[in-house]
Amino acid sequence: MRVSSVRLMRASRVLLTTLVLAGVQASVALAQTAQVLYAQRCTPCHGANGKGDGPSGKFLNPPPKDFATALNGKGDDWIAKVITQGGPAVGLSAAMPANSGLSDDQLKDLVQYVKKLGS
Ligand code: HEC
Repeated sequence: MRVSSVRLMRASRVLLTTLVLAGVQASVALAQTAQVLYAQRCTPCHGANGKGDGPSGKFLNPPPKDFATALNGKGDDWIAKVITQGGPAVGLSAAMPANSGLSDDQLKDLVQYVKKLGS
């Protein structure tokens, strides 16, 4: 009896460690997803650091603004709307495209990533 409860405790400790590690990996994977998505879909205009100085962004009129000022006082929902529906949905330039094919998690992550660039 004693032996098996010790074994059980050991097994649960291993399980706990595995779960904690899996959780850490999952959040790293999410962060990478947002970073990769941003690099693929947004950097050309907004620039790697969200300053609005991407190679294509420079030629737009108006150019994308620095997230640090453009996102002042804007909530997550507003940012998500711009990303999924494009600039005109919030009265901004039509050069800001609507992004389709994002899962809810990807969108949420991207919003947080953009906010971090702007902070
Ligand atoms: C083709 C160029 C282009 C691409 C690609 C692009 N944007 Fe934009 N974005 C713009 C422009 C232009 C504006 C609006 C500027 C204005 O009207 O003041 C804008 C506006 C925004 C805004 C509103 C705040 C602001 O800076 O004015 C957010 C948030 C935003 N974009 C996020 C993104 C994200 C996230 C992606 C990638 C998924 C992305 N954009 C891709 C050009 C682009």
